Amino acid sequence: MATATATAHPNIALIKYWGKRDTALNLPAVPSLSLTLDTFTTRTTVTWGADRDAARLDGREATAREAGRVFEFLSVLDPSRPPCRVDSHNDFPTAAGLASSSSGFAALAVAASHASGQDLATKALSVLARRGSGSACRSLWGGFVEWTLGHAPDGSDSHGIPLAPADHWDVRMVVAVVSDAKKAVGSRPAMIRSAQTSPYYSHWCATAQSDVDGAREAVLARDLTTLGTLMEQSTHKMHATMTTSWPPVFYAQPGTMACIHAVMQLRDSGTEAWLTMDAGPNVKVLCRSADADTVADTLRAHATTVHILGPGAGPAVL
Ligand code: DP6
Repeated sequence: MATATATAHPNIALIKYWGKRDTALNLPAVPSLSLTLDTFTTRTTVTWGADRDAARLDGREATAREAGRVFEFLSVLDPSRPPCRVDSHNDFPTAAGLASSSSGFAALAVAASHASGQDLATKALSVLARRGSGSACRSLWGGFVEWTLGHAPDGSDSHGIPLAPADHWDVRMVVAVVSDAKKAVGSRPAMIRSAQTSPYYSHWCATAQSDVDGAREAVLARDLTTLGTLMEQSTHKMHATMTTSWPPVFYAQPGTMACIHAVMQLRDSGTEAWLTMDAGPNVKVLCRSADADTVADTLRAHATTVHILGPGAGPAVL
């Protein structure tokens, strides 16, 4: 029996992942590019060898569905594994819509790899984390990370690639929580619905690589205008495939629209603020650190909570 504890931070996609080309291996239909955040942390302990599989999430027993996802994941790491114990805590509200599955599966991959004695390299951990949740493969590094599409049938070349570390660029992600209502459709079925029914899905896939290429150059050049433009376009294109699916998937709430207009007004008045949204109603705004308080004050009028987060580091083993 061996125990290991690891921490990881969530990441926010600047150029989005939406759609799968292989659901069994969880391979993406598009490449993506993200920023790993600081402050918000998932901390996960894995005990390799127990009397039975048992998982606790945020101090409560995992539901059967959650436990199924966790233990199937551990069996990907080692199909002949012993029963295991998993205990995972997020120190941030899941209602913040901050892709807790990204930090969750990144921390689980690192802790399980250590507890099992396999000590996988970071790239292999990213491939593994991807099997748990696609976005998790990007949380294996801090700062700006690209997730390559890959071509290998077994998915071994579809993983994160570190682009620039957290201290490369003094930007902030201001998160406006506008609703904590449970989403009507989870991102997995919504992705499948987009692929099967949205007339815009083929355009979404066809333009993703050039969006990532442009965003990569913009990150390296610290060009906020170009990055922000590509980021916002990626978000609106992704949401266009959702809302034109049938039945349509709408994640925006009235507060979401108020934040979108507020961000556009900020830009009109000279503050560079650029928004992104995921499979939920909350709005995340990328800006320079010097503008973060102005952006946060503006969004507070439309949000229940506002968090100011910076670029963060990759996982750590405790
Ligand atoms: C909208 O990584 O949660 O946040 O691979 O099915 O677990 P699965 O999906 P997940 O999807 C994230 C989608 C997104 C965009 C992004 O993070 O790139």
